[in-house]
Amino acid sequence: MIDPKRAQLEHEYMIALRDCVGGAGEEALAHAYELGRVAAGSGVGVVELATIHDKALREVLGEAAPPADVDQFFAEALSPFEMTHRGFRDANERLEAALRELEAFSYSVSHDLRAPLRTISAFTQALAEDLRHHLDEKSRDHLRRVLAAAARMSDLIDALLELSQISRAPLGRHKVDLSGVAQAVIDELKRRDLSRKVQSIVSPDLVLEADGRLVRILLDNLLGNAFKFTVKQTVAKIEVGAIEQAKDTVYFVRDNGAGFDMQYADRLFNPFQRLHREAEFGGTGIGLATVRRIVERHGGRIWAESSVGEGASFYFTLPPA
Ligand SMILES: Nc1ncnc2c1ncn2[C@@H]1O[C@H](COP(=O)(O)OP(=O)(O)OP(=O)(O)O)[C@@H](O)[C@H]1O
Ligand SMILES: [Mg+2]
Repeated sequence: MIDPKRAQLEHEYMIALRDCVGGAGEEALAHAYELGRVAAGSGVGVVELATIHDKALREVLGEAAPPADVDQFFAEALSPFEMTHRGFRDANERLEAALRELEAFSYSVSHDLRAPLRTISAFTQALAEDLRHHLDEKSRDHLRRVLAAAARMSDLIDALLELSQISRAPLGRHKVDLSGVAQAVIDELKRRDLSRKVQSIVSPDLVLEADGRLVRILLDNLLGNAFKFTVKQTVAKIEVGAIEQAKDTVYFVRDNGAGFDMQYADRLFNPFQRLHREAEFGGTGIGLATVRRIVERHGGRIWAESSVGEGASFYFTLPPA
C-alpha cells in the first residue's frame, strides 16, 4: 500500500511541475524547492525523488520532450538535499578538527609528564643510594614504593602516548600477511617465557589490506592478552583464524584462559578499564583501547565473547579501503 504522505508529495510535485511547464516560472521553482525540503525532511531519498520526478514528467508531458525549465525545476527540488549533505559534511569536519585537537592535547600532556617523572625516579634512586647505610627497612620500603609507582606511571604514559599516536599517524594501506605477523608475535611471546606450555594454531594464508605497523600493534596486544590470561593453565591454547560472515571476513584471537564476565564486555575497550586485579594479572588497561582505535581507523568493528574460566575470543574486521 502506498504511504499517503508519499502519495500527497507525488501529487503536489506533479501539480507544481505542470505549473512550471505552463510557464509559472519563479513561483513554480519556489514550489519545487519547498517540496524538496519536505521530501528531505521526511526521509525521502534522492533516488526516490528522481522516481517521483520521472513519474510526474510522464503524467504532465506524456512522450513529449521536456522543456529546459524542467531540469531547473528538478535542480531546485534537489537543492535541499545538497544542503543537508553539506551540513553533515561541515559538522563532520568540525568534529574531526576537535578530535585532532584533543589528540594533540593528550599527546603533549603525556609527553610533558615524562620529564618530571624521570626526575622523580632519578632522584629517588639517588636518595636510596646515598642513604643506603642509614635507612631502616621501613624507609627503604617506602623508597621502593615510590620507585615502583613512578615506573607504573611511566608505563601508563607510554601506553597513552602510543594510543594518541595511533590516531595521529596517517593510515597506510598495503597487503599484510596476518598469519605471518601473528606467528612472529607468538614466537616472540613464547621466547619470553620458555617455561610455559603453549599450543598455538594460526590459520595459514590470512592476508588483508591494512596498515602493517598498526596490525602488528593490534596483534601484539590481543596475543599479549591471550598469553597473559592463560598463565594459570597447564597448557595454554591460543588460536588465530578467520571466519566468513555475511560479506565480512571476521578475524579472531582465541584463548583458553581466565576469561571474563560478559556483563562488562563493552567496558574492556575503554582506556584504563580492567576486569582483573593488578596483583593477579598486571597491565595498564590501555591495550584494548589501542586495539579498538586501530580497528576503527580501518573502518572495522571489534567485539569479544567469553565467560569466567572458559577462555576468551576477540573478533574483529579490517575491511579494505
Ligand atoms: N584474553 C583475555 N582473557 C581474559 N580477560 C581479558 C583478555 N583480554 C583482555 N581481558 C580483560 O580486559 C582488560 C583490558 O585489557 P587491556 O589489554 O586493555 O589491558 P591490560 O592487558 O590489563 O593492560 P595493557 O594495557 O598492558 O594491555 C584486562 O585487564 C582483562 O581484565
Ligand atoms: Mg593487554
